[in-house]
Amino acid sequence: MALHNKDKVRDFLLDDIYAERNTSKGLPKYKFPDTERDPRRMYQFVHDELMLDGNSRQNLATFCSTWLEPEARQLMDECVDKNMIDKDEYPQTAELEGRCVHMLADLWNSPDAANTIGCSTTGSSEAAMLAGMAMKRRWKKRREAEGKPTEKPNLICGPVQICWHKFARYWDVELREVPMERGRLILNAKEVVKRCDENTIGVVATLGVTFTCQYEPVKEIAAALDNLRDETGLDIPMHIDGASGAFLAPFVDPDLEWDFRIERVKSINASGHKFGLAPLGVGWVVWRDAEDLPEDLIFWVNYLGDNIPTLALNFSRPGGQVVAQYYNFIRLGKEGYRKIHEYCYDTAAYIADEIRGMGPFEVIYDGRGGIPGVCWCLKEGLDTRYTLYDLADRLRGRGWQVPAYSMPANRTDLVVQRVLVRHGVSKDLGSLLVKDIKRCLDHFRSHPVPKSLTEKEAGGYKH
Ligand SMILES: Cc1ncc(COP(=O)(O)O)c(C=O)c1O
Repeated sequence: MALHNKDKVRDFLLDDIYAERNTSKGLPKYKFPDTERDPRRMYQFVHDELMLDGNSRQNLATFCSTWLEPEARQLMDECVDKNMIDKDEYPQTAELEGRCVHMLADLWNSPDAANTIGCSTTGSSEAAMLAGMAMKRRWKKRREAEGKPTEKPNLICGPVQICWHKFARYWDVELREVPMERGRLILNAKEVVKRCDENTIGVVATLGVTFTCQYEPVKEIAAALDNLRDETGLDIPMHIDGASGAFLAPFVDPDLEWDFRIERVKSINASGHKFGLAPLGVGWVVWRDAEDLPEDLIFWVNYLGDNIPTLALNFSRPGGQVVAQYYNFIRLGKEGYRKIHEYCYDTAAYIADEIRGMGPFEVIYDGRGGIPGVCWCLKEGLDTRYTLYDLADRLRGRGWQVPAYSMPANRTDLVVQRVLVRHGVSKDLGSLLVKDIKRCLDHFRSHPVPKSLTEKEAGGYKH
């Protein structure tokens, strides 16, 4: 039998992670600690702090991937040390990026997909900046060649994601954002044409509006711009923000014309890390033809003794996301993407039907014809005492993040709630959410809300 002396027992206890004295006051917040510390303990403390983050799988606010195949995780792990910018050092990663660009150009019906140009980015925001820069530069060159002023560029769009506001502010472009109206929450051709002039660098249409999940009518807008050109000579290019839709429509609705089949569409951005199903940190921008990207935005880098064109706002960037994206393309193919997305659409339609049936809600978007998601508001004139902010707050008690938010101008009076159905949001999970919403409504009936939360108090999703 082992003999235990008192000191040995104490040593053992002191080795317990949670019995360390110098972390008993909490972890450093403002200053570097003076000394080094044990990795095992520090890992555990950081790990524990992260328990306070929400559970990403229950975050129905995000469009981004929250479920990954083990093989994608393994590739991410294998690429943790690869820098996307070192084309010479990691030529095969560069090669996979190039393949993705051309496969996307083909998926989006570029007339010369094998030769057109595009690149990976950190997401749709960076992709939007690059596409916006190209639009501005093309317009400026044309104006200069005509001897016309170039001080007042403008860009026309509908209710866009914040990245386009950033683009406009950072690159000194006036954003002519068509406001929402009663009965119209997205862009239409009539409103676009009204705002076009000789200083319009382009029109952005969104395939999958962030606020409501709806697709904007690309073909109709392009046709109206064709008429405008015939009548006035103004020839205005289009860019499609396909952050979500560019990875949905080609697989589930291949006959919908929104892409390079329309000649006026000169560039497209998409988020690989949304419905492209890649891990967080990858987006894409592709131009219809190589000549649609002004030459002076390109930087040439040496790659296997060859010079290849690059375009990016940043320099170093991890390579794993691009590699995992390529893995998805070859592992899933069109069939796999279609199956995964169709399952999401079915789940979204199921949730929409359930929500409609609950009584107090009006479904604004029911998961059909746009992004797989649902968007609803409270029926007008109903005295519920609770608001969607109260509902969002109560759902958090079960771990669900279902944002409630007010719409942008001119519908700030309209408060909606929205869920996104991504890969991994199964029908089973959807049915649990539905049950929890019903449970919340029962609770509000038996315990009427004395004072509703405001948008600010409810916190949550901001675009
Ligand atoms: C329509 C649209 N454009 C752009 C973005 C920005 O995308 P990312 O998060 O990939 O930068 C989003 C994000 O939700 C979006 O919905």
